[in-house]
Amino acid sequence: MTSSLDALKAAARRAPIVPVLVVPDVDAAAPLAEALVAGGLTIAEVTLRTESGLKVIEEMKKAQPDLIVGAGTVLTGEDVSNAMNAGSDFLVSPGMSPKLLDALGDHKDITIPGVATASEAMTRHEEGFRMLKLFPAAIAGGVGALKALSGPLPHLEFMPTGGVSADNAADYLALPNVVAVGGSWIATEKDVAAGAWSDVVAKAKTALTRI
Ligand code: 3PG
Repeated sequence: MTSSLDALKAAARRAPIVPVLVVPDVDAAAPLAEALVAGGLTIAEVTLRTESGLKVIEEMKKAQPDLIVGAGTVLTGEDVSNAMNAGSDFLVSPGMSPKLLDALGDHKDITIPGVATASEAMTRHEEGFRMLKLFPAAIAGGVGALKALSGPLPHLEFMPTGGVSADNAADYLALPNVVAVGGSWIATEKDVAAGAWSDVVAKAKTALTRI
């Protein structure tokens, strides 16, 4: 069966940069989704760090149904059910806890949990997660760590996030175990608050030309 993680991977082959978004104002959801698509992006992660996060996911999907929209900062069982009800295509968490693991149930397949060590990566893989987020990527060893992990653990796939930028995205994406990179620089909180949609389009386009 094709899962939404396969859809995400297909979308990442077209544009492997995932903007990590903090969107406090629901009215920004539609123009933001339009700007990301106009910039050539195919995937977005909306963090649940604001009360509006769930509604923003719904509105972005409504505005751009082909955009793969996931929920980030998923920390609790309540976040899992709320994010799924909002229509999230995938879930991202900074790490894992026993309670969250239990709550994820069948949704492990579409969840990208944060890991920072080989042991965490092996454990998440054993638990059924198919893609992992090296987090915080720059602090957890960055490109060097991912290169080192690909030797003994070549079957593991990553979406590094945290400290990825326009300047180093290509270095991450050159690695065979990196499917996509996540980062906040494409549409920062400031861009979103200012409605700087043409800047978002330009940054997305520039990022894609540099990888
Ligand atoms: C986050 O948690 O906000 C993401 O990891 C984004 O990190 P960045 O701001 O370093 O891109």
